[in-house]
Amino acid sequence: MSNVIISPSILSADFANLQRDIERVEHAGADWLHIDVMDGHFVKNITIGVPVVKAIRKITKLPLDVHLMIENPENYVKAFIEAGADIVTFHYEAVNDVNSIIELIKSYGIKAGMSIKPRTSPEKILDFLPKLDLILIMTVEPGFGGQSFLYDCAEKIPVIKKYANENLIIQVDGGINPQTAKICTRYGANSLVAGNYVYKSDNIKSAIQSLR
Ligand code: DX5
Ligand code: ZN
Repeated sequence: MSNVIISPSILSADFANLQRDIERVEHAGADWLHIDVMDGHFVKNITIGVPVVKAIRKITKLPLDVHLMIENPENYVKAFIEAGADIVTFHYEAVNDVNSIIELIKSYGIKAGMSIKPRTSPEKILDFLPKLDLILIMTVEPGFGGQSFLYDCAEKIPVIKKYANENLIIQVDGGINPQTAKICTRYGANSLVAGNYVYKSDNIKSAIQSLR
């Protein structure tokens, strides 16, 4: 068993039974809960907002790993943190001033994450790594669950790993299953987001275990 952080994405949960589906992954040994926030502008989908995060905070002890796929994320950081986020991850492609949003997130005493889309090269973000707690390498185009893993994107992991300090959490998101998880962890990822693989399996506990 590895000490990789497993963060199931509730995007693949049954929203009419969200509490039940969150408790399922919590009881099955998930480490974090991944919450995908989409605004219909940065990506072509609309999902969860601040009130839902606030409601989720009341029903789980899992750290809330909030992935902001939105434009102008700096305007919403405070609201998501007050709602209960423990990790806030914004997209590199969505901001003009990377340093100031990292400082803003950290000023609340929580973890700051930054994500890169499949077509963003890792070299562009190396300078920011020492300031971040987490880097999220998207292994699908952000916007929807259930897409196929992009193998090329996994090759960014060792590039980032080479420049990262040992405390940086390297997370991957999109198309993660036991086979793609193994590729990512061998390259040096230590946090895996999985939506469909976890929620569409008959046995959530063994699905989470098989990702480790
Ligand atoms: C996609 C989201 C992912 C998504 C992953 O834009 O960021 O978190 O829920 O879903 P799967 O694991 O089904 O690819
Ligand atoms: Zn995500």
